[in-house]
Amino acid sequence: MTAAIIGWGHTPFGKYDAETVESLIVKAARQALEHAGLEAHEVDEIVLGHFNAGFSHQEFTAALVLQTHEGLRFKPATRVENACATGSAAVHQGIKSIAAKQARTVLVVGVEQMSTVSGAQVGENLLRASYLQEESSIQGGFAGVFGNIADAYFKKYGDQSDALAHIAAKNHRNGASNPYAQLRKDFGFEFCRNVSEKNPVVAGPLKRTDCSPVSDGAAAVVLADIPTALSMRRAVAFRSTAHVQDFLPISRRDILLFEGCELAWKKALSSARLQLSDLSFVETHDCFTIAELLEYEAMGLTARGEGGKAIMEGWTAIDGKLPVNPSGGLKSKGHPVGATGVSMHAMTAMQLCAEMPDAIQLANPQIGGIFNMGGAAVANYVSILERIR
Ligand code: COA
Repeated sequence: MTAAIIGWGHTPFGKYDAETVESLIVKAARQALEHAGLEAHEVDEIVLGHFNAGFSHQEFTAALVLQTHEGLRFKPATRVENACATGSAAVHQGIKSIAAKQARTVLVVGVEQMSTVSGAQVGENLLRASYLQEESSIQGGFAGVFGNIADAYFKKYGDQSDALAHIAAKNHRNGASNPYAQLRKDFGFEFCRNVSEKNPVVAGPLKRTDCSPVSDGAAAVVLADIPTALSMRRAVAFRSTAHVQDFLPISRRDILLFEGCELAWKKALSSARLQLSDLSFVETHDCFTIAELLEYEAMGLTARGEGGKAIMEGWTAIDGKLPVNPSGGLKSKGHPVGATGVSMHAMTAMQLCAEMPDAIQLANPQIGGIFNMGGAAVANYVSILERIR
């Protein structure tokens, strides 16, 4: 173990006309420093995760974190980007600085403001995370990409609409109790299963309730090396991390296998000397419900083609054998692209420190796993966390 999370900050995710990328960063960063009990001048390095790709005119944003506090002036600050896994890329970058002994403490912030552009522009910006040379004509932005994936899965393994609706209903039910979530409504299975005026088809077999929403928000975590972390209020250590990057063109991969996700889980579990069954819960990247189903298979919870079993038999429910997305996931919490991975780390740390609201707090969780994905299984990040203080 080389690093631990010692504090976090999180704006509620939602649509906020009155906020800016800067104001969201400052709110989350300030909360995180306070929560960690760390003074700004004690921060050695700053990493910002911000995807942008057309959402904000302010393109150069790393130094905006310094607006949080005068004491951050002259600290090294860098922005990282890896599509929807930008937040985890930022967290893992901070861990690398600590491992290299370049920093004792790192402030990691993830941010995105997506709602200030039109729906069509949202789709165009997000599609920039695909291989434009071959995939730019896909209709419906990233929902179109995952609509095609769902179509291909249904053709190979049969209609999974019931399973997808159960995934949506589970994540909405969990997220209804999460004060940081954008969609805090328990929609129920029937609503998620059926096409209606309020739940129209978006792309392929995917309905609105199969998609994560368009969101604004920021999250932050403070990282520290283990000796420093053990002297702080709380410490949630990284048992292991793994990052696997796959080819960008979908044409070069069997997209139903999510092989990068599978390899990232294998690497992270093996270096932590753990099995999947040792985890108390997982926060996984449910940008679309079909992604969560494919991730059940890639993480090794079920055989290929049988992901539906994990949700239909209640394994991934909050009281199941491996609760998945007790926070409500991206589906309910929202998915401000650059903030998502940092949020997943903050949620997992909250869960391990028993700081979640009662309805979604697991009893005595020991180890939490995170999978954050950029593009369609292109950037794959796994973190395995355990509370050590
Ligand atoms: N799930 C459930 N409800 C949603 C929702 C979602 N994803 N998105 C919006 N809603 C609700 C809103 O809260 C609103 O409810 P209300 O009428 O009770 O106030 C209603 O649906 C209409 O909201 P609106 O924003 O007009 O919906 P929309 O049809 O313009 O957008 C999507 C819906 C699914 C197209 C949009 O959320 C989307 O593009 N999501 C995918 C984002 C994405 O690709 N992210 C990257 C992933 S890799």
